[in-house]
Order: sequence, then C-alpha cells, then structure tokens
Amino acid sequence: MCGIVGYIGTQNAKEILLRGLEKLEYRGYDSAGIATRDEQGVTVTKAQGRIAELRKETEKAGDGSTGIGHTRWATHGVPNYDNSHPHQSSSKRFTIVHNGVIENYEELQQAYIPNVELKSDTDTEVIVQLVEHFSNEGLSTEDAFTKVISLLHGSYALGLLDSEDSETIYVAKNKSPLLVGIGNGFNVIASDALAMIQVTSEYKELKDQEIVLVQRDSVVIKDLEGNHIDRESYTAEIDASDAEKGVYSHYMLKEIHEQPAVMRRIIQEYQDEEGNLKIDPEIIKDVHEADRIYIIAAGTSYHAGLVGKEFLEKWAGVPTEVHVSSEFVYNTPLLSEKPLFIYISQSGETADSRAVLVETTKLGHKSLTITNVAGSTLSREADHTLLLHAGPEIAVASTKAYTAQIAVLSILSQVVAKEHGREADIDLLRELAKVTTAIETIVDDAPKMEQIATDFLKTTRNAFFIGRTMDYNVSLEGALKLKEISYIQAEGFAGGELKHGTIALIEDGTPVIALATQEGVNLSIRGNVKEVVARGANPCIISMEGLEKEGDTYVIPHVYDLLTPLVSVVSLQLISYYAALHRDLDVDKPRNLAKSVTVE
Ligand code: F6R
Repeated sequence: MCGIVGYIGTQNAKEILLRGLEKLEYRGYDSAGIATRDEQGVTVTKAQGRIAELRKETEKAGDGSTGIGHTRWATHGVPNYDNSHPHQSSSKRFTIVHNGVIENYEELQQAYIPNVELKSDTDTEVIVQLVEHFSNEGLSTEDAFTKVISLLHGSYALGLLDSEDSETIYVAKNKSPLLVGIGNGFNVIASDALAMIQVTSEYKELKDQEIVLVQRDSVVIKDLEGNHIDRESYTAEIDASDAEKGVYSHYMLKEIHEQPAVMRRIIQEYQDEEGNLKIDPEIIKDVHEADRIYIIAAGTSYHAGLVGKEFLEKWAGVPTEVHVSSEFVYNTPLLSEKPLFIYISQSGETADSRAVLVETTKLGHKSLTITNVAGSTLSREADHTLLLHAGPEIAVASTKAYTAQIAVLSILSQVVAKEHGREADIDLLRELAKVTTAIETIVDDAPKMEQIATDFLKTTRNAFFIGRTMDYNVSLEGALKLKEISYIQAEGFAGGELKHGTIALIEDGTPVIALATQEGVNLSIRGNVKEVVARGANPCIISMEGLEKEGDTYVIPHVYDLLTPLVSVVSLQLISYYAALHRDLDVDKPRNLAKSVTVE
C-alpha cells in the first residue's frame, strides 16, 4: 500500500528518497513522486507506474538536501499524474505526502475551503489546502498543521514541507504506520524501517496524533496541546541484505526457498536451553484463562488461522473461532465470557485487523499478535506478541510468513497443551524438523512444480483446488496464491462441497488440483476426484507418502498429519509461481494488490 519516505540532512535528498521508495515498491503502488527543496524552493516530480519512470523524470529535479517521497496505491481517484503525491497548496507554499484515508475530507472542504479550486480527486489535497488556509489566517506552519490534524478523521501518515522553512519536515500519523529514523547530521521518515535501513537502523516510534518536527539535528515530538514528549529510539534489527533478491529472479522464489531456514530459526527461537519449547508464561496464562480464542486475520494470515484453530482445539483443548477481520469489526458475534483475541498479521499493519484490536481493547479483552514485524502497530497495541522470525517478506504474495505463522501457532498450542497437562501425542520439535526436511525436498523439486504448472495451468482461465479437513484449509491458500499472481480465476473448496453447486463449472479440461494428505479422508477425496473427472476435469493429485496411489501427480514426503499444510502448501506456492512466470507476469508485484493493507 502507499509508502512514505523523507530526508532532511546535508546530502542529495533525491537519490536517498528514490532508493527508499524502491525499497517500498513491494508494498504495491500505481504511481510515485518526490518533492525536494533547495534554494530555489520546492520541486515536485511525479510519474505514473514504476519508480523507474520516476527516476527518469527526476533527472531534471533539483539537488536539495530536504525532501519527501511517496508511492501511491489509489484509494480516492484513479491512478493518474494529478492524483499522485506529493500534492501542493494553491500558492505552492506547502507540499504534502499522505498515506491513509481521510473520512471527513468533503465536510472539511465545504466548511473551510469551499472556494479553493482542487486539482486532484484526492482527500490528500484537501489536507494541504487546509494547512494553507489556516496559515493565511495567520497561524504559524506548526500551528496550522496542528489545527488540521485536530480536524482530521480517518487514517493518515503525513509529511509536509513548507517552502518558506528549510529546516523542518512536519510529520503526524493516525492509524497508519510512520517512523522517524535517526541519523548523524540527518534524520529521515519512513512508513517502514526497511525503506531507510541503508541509511540508519535507529528509529523512534510515533504515536497517533502526535505532531513531530523533524529537523537535521533534532526530532521534536509534541502532543496536540503542544506538550513535549520524550521518546527513546530503538534499533531495527533488519539485515539490509535480507531485503535484496540475491541470486533469485524474484523475491517470491527467494522467500519460498527460505522456508526451511525460517523453520529452523523458529525452532531455535522458541526453544529453551534444555531443548524444550518455550513461550512467554504470561501468554500461556492468558490462553489458560481464556474460555474461547478468537483468531482475527485477513487473506493468507486468515488461512494460517484456520490451520492454527485445529492445533488450538486438538492439542491445547481451547475452543477457537477464526474470523475475517473486515467482517468481524462490523458484525461481531456473541462473544464468550473470557475471550482471548489472537491477531495474525505478517505486516502487523493491516487496518482491518487493527480496527478489531481497537474495539476489543476498549472492551477490556486480552490480545496476542503473531507478526513478522517487531514494533508494528498490531504488535505495539496488543498485550503480547509472538514473532515469526521469517525475515522481511517483500513479494506481495505471502509464502514464508504463512508457514511461519502455522509453525508458531503449532508451538503455542503444544506449550499450552503441556501446561494444561494434556498428553502430547507428538514430539513437535522432531516433527517440525521432519517438516523442514520435507520442505527442502519440495523446493529441490521445483522443476517438477514447473512441469505441473505447464501441464495444468498454461492456458486455462480457471482452476479449482479441493481438499478435506487440513487439506481444505490449504486448498483455500493454494487458490489465493494462484489467483493473486497469475490472474487465473481459482477457488478452493471442501471436496464434499463441490457437488452442491460448483461442479456445474467443471468442463472438459478444467484443472482440479486435489490435495490428498489426510489418511482419514483419503478415500473420500479420491471419490471427489472421480466425480470431477467424470465431468471432464483434468485432475492434478498431490498426495503424501504412505497414502499415494498410482497416477498421482506429485507425492510430498510423509509428515505428521496436522502438520501437512506446512509442506503441501510449498508445492502450491511453486506451482503458482511458475504459472505466473509462464504468463510473463510481474510475480512480485501483481496488479491491484498491496503488501501492507493499511486502509480499511
Ligand atoms: C496474500 C497476502 C494477503 C495478506 C493479507 C493480510 O498473499 O499476502 O492476503 O495475507 O493482506 O496481511 P497481513 O498478514 O500483513 O495482515
């Protein structure tokens, strides 16, 4: 989703901003722009499409040592030049970049600036025009900015330049992420530490509705009443090289390949010195005291939650519900007396999930966030956090975060089970080690997955994924992966459900990818395959050692039955990757999608 960077120092801001924006490309965007300030004033350069286009445009831009930059994922108004950021006020004195959605921008426009002619269709332009309006009424820039912040409803991360003040970037946020990076003789702003990790690893978190004056040698944080706030900085533990593609042609491929290493890291991080699984006792206590767990998540993280529910119920013995966050917030079910909310989010920034967290916190319910990003909004605002330790996930299509989420949920459930005195029927550490090796086998079999993509998906318009029990959960994720990067219309179904309607869509040659890794339902899913084959489907059966039958398309190594999602999904990730590659599509940055969905 939209990304913000800013720099104030002594070096050429343009190059630092462009490199920062390139690092934010993974979040998804459809236009980009920068504003730099030199002795001549502020120069705005924008371009539709990729940062490469913006780079070409900026050849003419000035060499100022202060600037702000933005990647835009369209919410208000189509992705064209006028709607791209930065936006300027009518006199061009003020220049702004904004992430988020202002809910009351039309009311504010009517109330304060009805006669100002707007150049774009964006809510953002209203913000910068309001700053100019209050400045024209005699307020200082800081006071005008503060006044505007006090009027805005909605989500925002903002960076503002004043062409009459070379010393300051004015910054504020509400619900949208924004950090200030601390340098030696310079400071930066970024919606994500990854964007500026090349220039600094020291960051200050910003809280909602604070006014921040970022200058070359200082960062002043104030509340809306003007009171100064002290804030310690922290070191962002990101290895800059983690954010590079290395030898891989795409981040997605790199991240699929990283999964065995991520499994090993998780096993290590969640083990004590005696080799036992460990989880913060406070978390265990909250799970122990909960009469029901509500897992809240979106997209791939929701699919991981579906698998986690099985662990929490079957191993830990805690009734668990899994909800799509964007629905839960508007249609909250009847809650149990002592619920615990688990938020699963790779980015830790998903606005839909955060909206639920805000509500459940108001109600006084305990919360745990499972995320890949330490210090992210969901992590900061929940009572507890469990980290995924997956390293930055750059490709828009989530892969290693999904398997990491499932692994962490399995560990949580087993530790709770042990603390509850429930007899463990598996040695999870041993089984996760087997899973790691199995993932390695599949990654090594990438050429076979490429062949499957060729045989089944090269020209098709649609595809179905079917499975039962654990395989059903994975079929949902397999279908999501395929549709988001290959644009093939793909749906996941419970094997037994097809005949209740969807089977009408099966035609000659329709690919049906069936997962058959669950012993208890092996015969039934194979029966479902026969049903679709009888209607002309082209079946691709992915089974597991010990359950395979002649003619199966691919057989994954044997792992413990509840842990099969960690392994079978890797074959589906690779098949989707190659299907998109064969169609010559932008695998890492699929159309219309954003990595970090910070608007509701
Ligand atoms: C799909 C994908 C999305 C995310 C969803 C939630 O590959 O990545 O479906 O899973 O947008 O994002 P997080 O996990 O960051 O809350």
